[in-house]
Amino acid sequence: MNPTTIKTGILGGGQLGKMLALAAHNWDLDTWVLDQDKSFPAGPVCSHFVTGNFKDFEDVYAFGKQVDVLTIEIEHVNTDALHKLAAEGVKIHPAPEKLNIIKDKGLQKQFYADQGLPTSSFRLYSDEKEVRKALQDGSLTFPFVQKSRTAGYDGRGVAVIKNPEHLESRLLSGPCVIEELVDIDKELAVIVARNERGEVKSFPAVEMIFNPVANLVEFLSCPANVSREVEEAAEQLAVRTIEAYGLCGLLAVELFLTKSGELLINEVAPRPHNSGHHTIDSCYTSQFEQHLRAILNLPLGSTEMKTASVMVNLLGEEGHSGPVAYEGMEQCLSMKGVNVHLYGKKETRPFRKMGHVTVVADSVAAAFDIARRVKETLKVISRGVEFKV
Ligand SMILES: Nc1ncnc2c1ncn2[C@@H]1O[C@H](COP(=O)(O)OP(=O)(O)O)[C@@H](O)[C@H]1O
Ligand SMILES: [Mg+2]
Repeated sequence: MNPTTIKTGILGGGQLGKMLALAAHNWDLDTWVLDQDKSFPAGPVCSHFVTGNFKDFEDVYAFGKQVDVLTIEIEHVNTDALHKLAAEGVKIHPAPEKLNIIKDKGLQKQFYADQGLPTSSFRLYSDEKEVRKALQDGSLTFPFVQKSRTAGYDGRGVAVIKNPEHLESRLLSGPCVIEELVDIDKELAVIVARNERGEVKSFPAVEMIFNPVANLVEFLSCPANVSREVEEAAEQLAVRTIEAYGLCGLLAVELFLTKSGELLINEVAPRPHNSGHHTIDSCYTSQFEQHLRAILNLPLGSTEMKTASVMVNLLGEEGHSGPVAYEGMEQCLSMKGVNVHLYGKKETRPFRKMGHVTVVADSVAAAFDIARRVKETLKVISRGVEFKV
């Protein structure tokens, strides 16, 4: 293998593209990134930045023609171009037909039902009128969770609707999937990888703890605070899921552990994922390196933990929009086990993901103590244009 000659293309130049390019840099791979502006996070760290739109057929097609292996950091790319590129012999992971299933939450749920994989019960609706009609004729009852089939990310395309008032204020328009409201005990995520030889390895399960206002992951702990049986069952379910899809690369499997002890698949992402950032600092192999190993058909790395960890997402402070500044860095850097990762986004906005911190320690409890202090200390603000929103 001569890594410098392998052109690895990444659709998307956000933080996931950046961390993928950083991992690729360790092996001197030739990384190509397609996104709209070189000032995006991956811009300064990839070998070649190509300006274009990953949703545009021509841009994706022209970009794909230049590389040997093509991958993604975001699902919402132009899959028509990927189909054409695959037909013309470009190696693409995840495969475009699987990506088409995953980027549509309706098709994704249908896939689990067809494959006999556990997921909450659901129905598909073509628009909000059909949802209202179902409520009138009694085929749908409160409470329920409505998800836009294709328009959502970071909780933005999800509405929890418990009563008629919520219906008026929260109902989303367009094609949607409606799921039963699951009685969630914990939200877990398992990242699993598969290469072309069919080798499969899963990272240890992690527990996601959400900010109730923003509906974004606030802390993430590894190991998860669950029994060994639940942990093993979660990892096995993730392995079954990637094998059912037959994907190469990473698959991040978001799971619900219900109050009755059942594990349900919520959704998946066929790429590096927010719930795997701790692996950079706390596992033998990072999720980013594992993705590269998997898409290049190299042996998968050990997924074992070196240490317990708690990860904190650094979100833009409420009331701050504009050129970014970081407050409290010095205090954080004086705390033991603190690993700061800033994504390099030039502008902050309330709840925008601007970076993350992984705290490593002997135990999750010890890591949590420091992670809470980090969260209180390190603030993403703007000293430029400030206004209340
Ligand atoms: N069926 C459900 N029952 C209860 N809560 C849900 C359900 N589906 C989603 N949620 C909550 O909403 C969050 C976001 O939903 P998800 O489908 O993961 O969307 P996103 O793509 O924005 O991550 C989940 O992490 C969970 O907290
Ligand atoms: Mg999710």
